[in-house]
Order: sequence, then structure tokens, then C-alpha cells
Amino acid sequence: MGKKFLGALLSMAMVSMLMVGCGGGQPAATNTNAPEGDTAAAEETTSAGGDGDLITVGFSQVGAESDWRVANTQSMKESLSEANGFELIFADAQQKQENQIKAVRDFISQEVDVIVIAPVTETGWETVLGEAKDAEIPVIVVDRQLDVSDDSLYTCWVGSDFYQEGINAVDWLTKYMDGLGRGEEDLNVAVLQGTIGSSAEIGRTKGVRDELEKHSNYKIVAEQTGEFTQAKGQEVMESFLKSGEDIDILIAQNDNMAFGAIDALKAVGKDPGEDVVIVSFDAVKAAFDSMIAGDMNVSVECNPLHGPRVAELAKKIMNGEEVEKIQYVEEGVYPADTAAETLPSRAY
Ligand code: AHR
Repeated sequence: MGKKFLGALLSMAMVSMLMVGCGGGQPAATNTNAPEGDTAAAEETTSAGGDGDLITVGFSQVGAESDWRVANTQSMKESLSEANGFELIFADAQQKQENQIKAVRDFISQEVDVIVIAPVTETGWETVLGEAKDAEIPVIVVDRQLDVSDDSLYTCWVGSDFYQEGINAVDWLTKYMDGLGRGEEDLNVAVLQGTIGSSAEIGRTKGVRDELEKHSNYKIVAEQTGEFTQAKGQEVMESFLKSGEDIDILIAQNDNMAFGAIDALKAVGKDPGEDVVIVSFDAVKAAFDSMIAGDMNVSVECNPLHGPRVAELAKKIMNGEEVEKIQYVEEGVYPADTAAETLPSRAY
């Protein structure tokens, strides 16, 4: 257990005994990685850390593979700052789960107060999360989800509904094609997937497939991972084009892969946005530039600004307060025809 968290719990326990003696009492806190019986934790008022010290947070980030990820890291660093009452230990996993597992073990041995994980992939977390639970360190999962049989292995999760994003993308696309008068044509779709096994890829792939199935004239003719990076997106799009398949629509599971694919299309003399309709995800600022330039047709938002929520959750958990187990963030759909007016208000 983090020393400060233990200290907070001990002082809570003393308050709790007094409260019981006075006939008071509060509902138990719901930190699933905290020891049982921290019933008066919600009474702590001195500081989030329980003793006026900073809350030490170990954050295992996926990497720096996309503009989205850079914005997410910035949001987390800004919110988990010393000025806000935190000491942040940041670990970049370079898109490898094994690096994340090592980082989490380091956080445990450093006795951090809270562990935050943005998981690369959904599976493979049971053992290390069991170790965090044994050490009684609460775990906040952010962005992508985990697939674990025992959800008491983490305290809470905050992030995007990736499946809904996939549905929203195809819903927009089919209406757009209808508007072009092409809604009844046979349409070939290529898909650039994100990191296979990440919930961003799993959710978007399923959402896109489920929604496309409702339209028998849309056919997925090519599908491969571009690992959420611009370079790989370009490389895979080049191979799609070399295969000779006629592509009407590209669905890139993030903006950076779409940027790479747009470069690949231009290199063979095609006009992205016209010859090939480009549907993307994230809605980072550079995607708005691309839409204004006429290269991209739509970007479905994936909100990276999780820092303030994570900071609030960490403080609540440290105070023994109840937190919601699952929190989805709100997200929109941004088509090219509104990009110029929307861009000035975009935060990332
Ligand atoms: O998990 C969120 C995804 O990860 C974003 O769509 C992508 O850009 C990032 O790398």
C-alpha cells in the first residue's frame, strides 16, 4: 500500500471509531483495490493525500504514436502537476505491453499512492493487477479498456465508447454517400485498423462492421493494421493501392494513419476527399487542417483530455470517496463542411 494512503486510512479509522461512538457513520468507500473497512475515509478533509503531502501517481502511458496520444499525455501531465497536489512518475511504454507491466511493477515497488494505466491492449493484465491489488494500490484505467475476469482488479475506468465511434462513422458515411447520390452504388471500403487487440481497434472495427452490414452495397475489400502511426498508415495504404483493388472509401481508425494514407493516394495521382472518401477518428487539430484542404471528409472525435477527470478520481479515491466504476466521455462527429468554423475552438 502507498504509505500516504495507509496513513490516510489509519486516521480515517480513528475518525470512524469516534463516529460510531457518536452514532454517526458513512457508507463504505468503493475503492476496490483498497483494504476493506475504510468506512470513514470519506470524512477526510485535511488533504487528498491525507497528510498534506503530494499524491504520488505512477502513470503508464501507451507511447507517443499519434497527435491524440501527445495531447493525452499533455492533459495528464498538466492535471497531475505539483501545483494540483500530485507527484507524477511518467513511463512511456513505446506501444509495448511488456514495458507497461514492468512499469507497473516499478510503481508497486516505489509504493506510489495511485497507479494509472492507459493499456496498449485489453488482455494480459490479471497477474500484474493482482500484484497491485495485493499491494493495496488503487488502479485507475484511462482511455482504452481492460478485459479482466475480475473487475475488482482495478478501481475505475474513464475513456471513449469506441464501438459507438465506429457506428457514428458509418452512420455519417452512408448519409454522406446518399447526399452525393451514390448511396445505391456498389462501394469498396478499405480499413486501416489501429493496434490489434487495443480496445480502440476492437470497438471501432466492430462498430464499423456492424453498421456496414446494414448496407449490402458496401463491401470491405482490404483491412490491415497501420498501428495508429502515420508512417505505417502510409505504408499499408501503398500496399492496398498496389494490390489493384478499386477503393471508393477509406476508413482510417485514427487521423495520423489517415494523413499517411492521404500522402500515399496523392503519390499515385489520386485526389483524397474526392476520388477516395476519407473517414477518420480522433478529430485532432491537424485533421481540421486536412478537412479544410479538402483531403479528409470527416473525423469522428475521440476525446484525449482525460487529465482533469483522472486527477479528480485520484483525489476522491485517496479521500476514500465513492467513484463511478465506468465513465464515458462525450464525443462528436466533425465533417469537412464545418471544419473551418470549428477549428478555432478545438483544444487539441
Ligand atoms: O486509444 C485511443 C487511440 O489511440 C487514438 O484513436 C489513437 O490516435 C491513439 O493512438
